[in-house]
Amino acid sequence: MRVLLAGGAGYIGAHTAVALIEAGHDVLVVDDLSNSSAQAIARVEQITGADVPLLIADVRDEEAVAAFVRTHAPVDAVINFAGLKAVGESVAEPVRYYDVNLGAAIVLLKVMKTEGIRTIVFSSSATVYGDPEHLPLSEESRTGIDLANPYGKTKRIIEEILRDAATADAQLQAVSLRYFNPVGAHESGLIGEDPTGTPNNLMPYVARVAVGSLDRVGIFGDDYDTPDGTGQRDYIHVVDLAAGHVAALEHAGPGYDVFNLGTGVPVSVLELIAAFERAAGRELPRQILPRRAGDVAASYCDPSKAQRDLGWTAARTIDDAARDSWNWQSRNPNGYAGD
Ligand code: NAD
Ligand code: UFG
Repeated sequence: MRVLLAGGAGYIGAHTAVALIEAGHDVLVVDDLSNSSAQAIARVEQITGADVPLLIADVRDEEAVAAFVRTHAPVDAVINFAGLKAVGESVAEPVRYYDVNLGAAIVLLKVMKTEGIRTIVFSSSATVYGDPEHLPLSEESRTGIDLANPYGKTKRIIEEILRDAATADAQLQAVSLRYFNPVGAHESGLIGEDPTGTPNNLMPYVARVAVGSLDRVGIFGDDYDTPDGTGQRDYIHVVDLAAGHVAALEHAGPGYDVFNLGTGVPVSVLELIAAFERAAGRELPRQILPRRAGDVAASYCDPSKAQRDLGWTAARTIDDAARDSWNWQSRNPNGYAGD
């Protein structure tokens, strides 16, 4: 199959490109590089030995994307990673978030229609569950658009757009993948997470402390109702997550479907830091800070639907993720900018 990766130069897109190529598929990428580097695609080519055509454009440029697809026809499927993803920024700039995230999804569906592409996989998020009523979260758990932030609402709205599009078009195959917390890096250390500025997420923050570019890990609250008082999340290795996209594409059938992609194993902030300390072989300075606004105590999934319907399961542990994240960070202390 030949697959267009929108936002494919980003963290999850680059790892998925490698997984698809290694599974025998061809990929092409459209990315405006607003949160990534063309170097990521060069490194995907280095890992796989494949050519990966890259169109540097805003995915909302319908004519440019359609022309790119025609040049590489036939394209069989689209994966939509493209969008803005900073929760706090989405509260400050909601209109930009709706514009980019919804605009990207709508233009891709339009291009699919004109170019005869029937399959789309969308990067959704565990954020659509908001504050969980019950754990673990299954695909049947309550979701809403009454979520705390515009970022999460864009994910929820795009899921509904895909459902409606699949209802209207019997040939469309649409899948939303609700990622839990992606972490880790490719085992080569050639591609990994390279956030601009100070990382918002825990593992890249810990990685920067381990490499010495940040002083200490701030722990956002140690008084949650969890075993050690710190927040629990379902950290999924990005290479497992990438394999989930390959499985979703290979199993997609007509209609709309949604899958949780996670491990089902809750890991606390203190447990993640301890895993990173084992990987880096050093103690990491830390400090307890107040809770971060909007954080939930615990979030982890029941991954059994993906296992049953896609034959997919997360194989890697938090220690694997810490080892691979440390390998990537220590080889590339300045990310792709070091090239
Ligand atoms: P990322 O920022 O590394 O990747 C997104 C890519 O999209 C970037 O390369 C960026 O340059 C590109 N992009 C953004 N707007 C674009 C536009 N208008 N046109 C073309 N390209 C555009 O993020 P990621 O962590 O790889 O996440 C990929 C997707 O998964 C996102 O949709 C994100 O919301 C979703 N997601 C991520 C996480 C996470 O924690 N990383 C969790 C759940 C869901
Ligand atoms: N944390 C810290 N210190 C930090 C960063 C995070 O203690 O410097 C804690 C948080 O309080 C939380 C845990 O580490 O308990 C994980 O936090 P992340 O920011 O790494 O991840 P979140 O679960 O908060 O956010 C992720 C994605 C969002 C998505 C959200 C809900 O980054 O895009 O999951 O699914 F919206």
